[in-house]
Amino acid sequence: MLIEARAIRKSFYGVTVLDDVDFTLHAGEIHALLGENGAGKSTLVKILTGAYRRDGGTMRLEGTEVEPRDVAEAQAMGIGTVYQEVNLLDNLSVAENVYLGRQPRRFGMIDTKRMEAEATALLARYGLRVDPGESLSAYSVAIRQIIAIARAVDLSGKVLFLDEPTASLDAREVEAIFAILRRLRDDGLGIVIITHFLDQVFALADRVTVLRNGKLVGSRAISDLPRRDLVGMMLGRELAEETHSRSAAPPADTPAPIRFRGMGKTGSVAPFDMDIRPGEVLGIAGLLGSGRTETAFLLFGIDRADSGSAEIDGRPVTLNSPHDAIAQGFGFCPEERKTDGIVADLSVRENIILALQARRGWSRPIPRREQNAIAEKYIRMLDIRPTDPERPIKFLSGGNQQKVILARWLATDPRFLILDEPTRGIDIGAHAEIIRLIDGLRAEGMALAVISSELDELVAYSSRVVVMADHRQVAELAGDEISAQAIMAAMAVEAA
Ligand SMILES: Nc1ncnc2c1ncn2[C@@H]1O[C@H](COP(=O)(O)OP(=O)(O)OP(=O)(O)O)[C@@H](O)[C@H]1O
Ligand SMILES: [Mg+2]
Repeated sequence: MLIEARAIRKSFYGVTVLDDVDFTLHAGEIHALLGENGAGKSTLVKILTGAYRRDGGTMRLEGTEVEPRDVAEAQAMGIGTVYQEVNLLDNLSVAENVYLGRQPRRFGMIDTKRMEAEATALLARYGLRVDPGESLSAYSVAIRQIIAIARAVDLSGKVLFLDEPTASLDAREVEAIFAILRRLRDDGLGIVIITHFLDQVFALADRVTVLRNGKLVGSRAISDLPRRDLVGMMLGRELAEETHSRSAAPPADTPAPIRFRGMGKTGSVAPFDMDIRPGEVLGIAGLLGSGRTETAFLLFGIDRADSGSAEIDGRPVTLNSPHDAIAQGFGFCPEERKTDGIVADLSVRENIILALQARRGWSRPIPRREQNAIAEKYIRMLDIRPTDPERPIKFLSGGNQQKVILARWLATDPRFLILDEPTRGIDIGAHAEIIRLIDGLRAEGMALAVISSELDELVAYSSRVVVMADHRQVAELAGDEISAQAIMAAMAVEAA
C-alpha cells in the first residue's frame, strides 16, 4: 500500500469538514476522489500533501507512519501535488518554474544554462518541446498543466495528487494529459485525481473514493460500478434524468434592443455582428482558444474593441470598460474565478454585493440590512455552502466560490448577462440546478450569452448558437438547426 490514511479528521471554526475519513492508494493505480462541492476533497488532498495539518487520524506511506508538516516535507517523502489553482508563477521562465526553489547553482549563482538544458530534457519526456527560457505565460493552460505535473513528479516520484487538472482544458488537451497520467501509472506511480467530469473518471480511473459532507461513502473499483450507482454515492440520492427540452424563444425577427455591429479587435476577435434579445439565450461554442472568452471581453468592455459599435434601445453606446457595461445593465461571470472573480479576503456577503454596489455608485453604500437580505437570498437560491454570509470567501470550496460569483451578477438584476463556462467546477447535482436557473432567467425575460464547452447543455438552453473557430465566428445556428452534431461539424469544418 502506497498511502494508507485512517480516520482523518479536520475541522475549521468548529465545523467538521472531514469526519474519520479512510483513504488508501496503491502503487500503479489512478484513483479518482469524488463528491459534491464542499464535500471535503481538496481538504483531504491538502492534508495528505502536507498543506494542512490534520486534527486526528493516521497516515502511512509505504507502511511507515508519516506526518508531513508542509508541502516541501511531503515532496521529500515522495508526495507531489498539482493544486486546484495552478501553483506556478506566470512571469518566471519555464525552466525556473520546473526548478523553482531548487535551481542548480554554479559558484553560488543560478546556473541558467544547465537549468534550461535539464528542463528541456525533462519536458521532452512528456512530449513537450518548449523554449525553457520563455516566460511561462507564453504557453497555454494545458502546457502549463503538463509542466506542473512534470515538476511535481520530478520532485516527488511516488505519489501524484491532481486537484481538478482538466477544469479548463479542451478534449484534445485532456486526452494528452490522460496519456501522460496512464504512462506514469504504468511506471508505478500512484495517482489521485479530483474531477467533476464523470466521463473522465470512467475513461481514466481504476478505483474511486466518494466523500459526502466530509464523510467517507465508500471506495470501489470502477470496473464494476455503474454510472448511476456512482452518482447515487455522490449525491446520496438518484439524479433525476434530465430531459433537456429546448427552450421556447422569441422569433428571430423581433427587433433586438442590444446590437453589436462590426465589433472586433485586431489579433483577438475578427469583426462580428451580434443581436441580443430579452428572453433569449445566445450560446457561444468553439474550442478553447477559438476566441470565445475574447468575445465576452469585448462585449463587457474588458478589452477595448478597435472596430465596430454597440447600440442599446436604438442609441449608440460606448463600452470602453466594465464600468460602462455595468452602467448599461450588463453582467459578466468570468471563467477564471481566482484571477477575475473573487476577492479572497472579503466575506461571501461582500463578494455578492460588489457588482451591485459598483452599479449604484460607491458613494451610496448599500445599507447593511439590504446587504444581508441579498446575501441570504442568493445563498439559498444557489445552495451556497456553508450558508454563513460572513465567512471569508477564500475558505469556501472551489465550486461554492463559483456560485458566489454567479450570485454577484444576479444581484445586479442585469438585462444582459454573459456567462463564461458557468458549470465548470460545479458538481453534477448543482449542474442541473444551474441549467434550470439559466432557463428560468431567460423565461423571466433576461437576455443571456453563455459560453460553454458542454455541447449538450448549450443545445438545451440556447435559442441561437454562434460557433467560433480561429478567432472568428464561423457559423450561426438557430432553432431546429441546433444540435451537438451540428455544432461539432461547424467547428470541424474550420479546423480542417
Ligand atoms: N481554510 C479553510 N478554512 C475554513 N473552511 C474551509 C477551509 N478550507 C475548506 N473549508 C471548508 O471545508 C469544506 C470542504 O471544502 P473543500 O475545499 O475540501 O471541498 P471540495 O470537496 O474540494 O469542493 P469543490 O468541489 O467545490 O472544490 C467546505 O465547507 C469549505 O468551506
Ligand atoms: Mg476542491
